[in-house]
Amino acid sequence: MDPFGFDSLTLDWLRAKPGGKWHKHQGLLGAWVADMDFPPPPVVVQALQGRLDAGDLCYPDWRYPGGGSPASDVFCERALARYGWSIDVGRVREVNDVVQGIQIVLHLCTSAGDGVIVHVPAYPPFLHSIDDNRRVLVPVRTFDLAEVEAAAGHARALLLCNPHNPTGHVFTATELRGLADIAERHDLLIIADEIHADLVYHPHVHRPMALYAPERTVTVSAASKAFNIAGLRYALMHVGPQWVWDRFKSVPDHLFGATNLAGSLAAEAAWRDGDEWLAAAVAHLDRQRHLLADLLGEHLPEVRYTVPDATYLAWLDCRRLGFGDDPSAAFAERGVRLSEGPNFGPEGNGFARLNFATSSDVLREIVSRMSTTANDASRGRSRSPGTGIR
Ligand SMILES: Cc1ncc(COP(=O)(O)O)c(C=O)c1O
Repeated sequence: MDPFGFDSLTLDWLRAKPGGKWHKHQGLLGAWVADMDFPPPPVVVQALQGRLDAGDLCYPDWRYPGGGSPASDVFCERALARYGWSIDVGRVREVNDVVQGIQIVLHLCTSAGDGVIVHVPAYPPFLHSIDDNRRVLVPVRTFDLAEVEAAAGHARALLLCNPHNPTGHVFTATELRGLADIAERHDLLIIADEIHADLVYHPHVHRPMALYAPERTVTVSAASKAFNIAGLRYALMHVGPQWVWDRFKSVPDHLFGATNLAGSLAAEAAWRDGDEWLAAAVAHLDRQRHLLADLLGEHLPEVRYTVPDATYLAWLDCRRLGFGDDPSAAFAERGVRLSEGPNFGPEGNGFARLNFATSSDVLREIVSRMSTTANDASRGRSRSPGTGIR
């Protein structure tokens, strides 16, 4: 039932993990940054171990003059097999991370003062990337196409997050077709961040934006979210528009950095051999997203939560709790670290983001502690019966 042990985590093991999620906020349950609590897929560990055993961490024997690694070939094979998206590896550019790819495109292909449409609330680095590059955020507050159409007159680009962080929305074929039509009418460049593509729950389906607007879309993706290897820093871009590719070629190659051997080996192994692990992870997360709805209904009925179509992130509307703009501060006092809603833009005021990629027992403990009243906390007991997990 649980061949990879997703439901067998203990708090002692989690607290001993050196990564940021559990280490940074000592004493709090870590339900914030978008890492899963599970160990990496065994196929990834084997690939890394194999290279260590070979005693060779030197420059790899990669074929492409641009420094591309075999992981980019596997990405293309997988794009076709899984998403019906046929792409040429010759138009793939590897980078260190997805946000770097987004910033490269913004920097090279838009100008200071250009408007960039983003569905808000938004993954915070989208907002920083626009600001830091002196572009102008053009926020769109619903997934309604009419809103994007109205915004498009003020924009040069659409920075799309599909599946969407933090709401978990998966764009439908109709929405993607509509976005492609709007981009065509208003001559928009589309930057599609599809890092959560493999974390979609049935009956929803991920459809690459590039299927709908191939000549306008730069897709940025990675194995890091679905296979839980974000620390290895490997991502790639598929560049649809010829003019964007030409612009990439016009700047020195080393401005893009060079990818890390470990990150590339891990992505290759995950994409080639990790589907059994991924299917089990998605099945577990599917149960977790519904368990969270039950737990909130029982312990925190004031919190509004729409079960996400994708991702392991829950966008919690806490406004009825009266905890102010940043409810995560109150939850931290109760012993749980969530992501701060206001970091996702002003539309996140009164919200917090909860990461449910953990075991069912840890999730029970998280919600139990979140529902602890301040008085209970100071007396060391929770309003709801604790789970007893250590
Ligand atoms: C939508 C989205 N894009 C990008 C990233 C980060 O990717 P990277 O670490 O490769 O920059 C995340 C991480 O949570 C994310 O949710």
